[in-house]
Amino acid sequence: MIHLAKRAQLLKPSPILMLAARAGELKAAGNDVISLSIGEPDWTPYPNIKEAAIASIREGKSKYTPAAGIPELRKAIAEQASKDLGIPYEVSQVTASSGAKFVLFAALQAIVNPGDEVILVAPYWASYSTMVELADGTPKEVVCDQTVDFKLTPEILKKAIGPKTKAILLNSPSNPTGKIYSRAELSALAEVFRANPQVAIISDDIYNRLCFEHKLAPHILHVAPDLRDRVIVLNGASKSYAMTGWRLGWALGPKEVITAMTNYQSQSVSCANAMSQYAAVEAIKNCDPDVAKTVESLKDRAAVLVKALEEIPGVKVAKPEGAFYLWVDVSAYLGKSLDGKVMKTSSDLAEAYLNDQMVAAVPGSEFGLDGYFRLSYALSKEEGKRAVDRMKVFFAKLK
Ligand SMILES: Cc1ncc(COP(=O)(O)O)c(C=O)c1O
Repeated sequence: MIHLAKRAQLLKPSPILMLAARAGELKAAGNDVISLSIGEPDWTPYPNIKEAAIASIREGKSKYTPAAGIPELRKAIAEQASKDLGIPYEVSQVTASSGAKFVLFAALQAIVNPGDEVILVAPYWASYSTMVELADGTPKEVVCDQTVDFKLTPEILKKAIGPKTKAILLNSPSNPTGKIYSRAELSALAEVFRANPQVAIISDDIYNRLCFEHKLAPHILHVAPDLRDRVIVLNGASKSYAMTGWRLGWALGPKEVITAMTNYQSQSVSCANAMSQYAAVEAIKNCDPDVAKTVESLKDRAAVLVKALEEIPGVKVAKPEGAFYLWVDVSAYLGKSLDGKVMKTSSDLAEAYLNDQMVAAVPGSEFGLDGYFRLSYALSKEEGKRAVDRMKVFFAKLK
């Protein structure tokens, strides 16, 4: 018998991928399943991205690449980020690898020592806490509920920082809430960071091009460029360019951190998929107009679904500002029952909603705040509407 290592014992599969897999099984068994679970665009990459990948294969550009990525990609990333953030980044400050998820994993491995605390702003993306634990760190969750519009405030931040704080993860637009920090809110947080120079800031910008009112989400570096030596900027091709399965993400930051991350990558995955890297160069350089059209479509879908959801008694929706998630307060239904089973948590509600109505929604508990559903609306308006109609039926059945 082989005993599992401690780190593997604490490892749970990603609940969102599990839910998506269960929805897939139900679908394969012939059920009319609608999945609002996985954070994945329902459109495919823009044609020029696909052509760039195909051209790279035809030209035989399918060898191992440097661990930090091909020079053209690192240059394109550095140029885009320099323009976006108003700070000059050099190519040596860029590393790319197999998805932003792995790049974040490498960042945490590069900076967290055993016992270090990493502040997570709940509700937060489900994978953050396990990744911190896998780096032998301690996730320090701070709950930011509806009273603060699900966003970190300087007061909450001040209280959360202690002698063991190594880093904080910020994500705007947010998965799961779709909320965006304003420049003023970021400036207020920056004051607290200035007073606590030991804290590194990991800014997960994976949705930064998917904003309804801005071309680009406001950034901590827009308002506090003086913090640049403490900020690790994280981004990738999955969401803006619909390249989820192509697995390409990147980070920018202080040279020594980026080098450590690259070394981590070189000793683990070697490098990102070569074809995806060539395709991402094209995406970064030439797809901003396409992304703008996509954002209009997302905004439209969000408006339709928010309106439909708000017609369900007791349901409240946090006004979405970007990304493609709705954060829906379903706490009015906690304590009610279906067929004798009491709905104690949003997890019970999500399970019953899937079994009864064949719709997969992710329970808020997976993001560190119970009483909510996260609905991914990167699907057609018609399908989204059908899912909401079924929610209405489902909630009406709860007694
Ligand atoms: C907040 C957030 N960060 C990072 C990622 C990782 O994206 P990827 O690994 O596909 O680049 C995701 C994906 O769902 C996300 O929602």
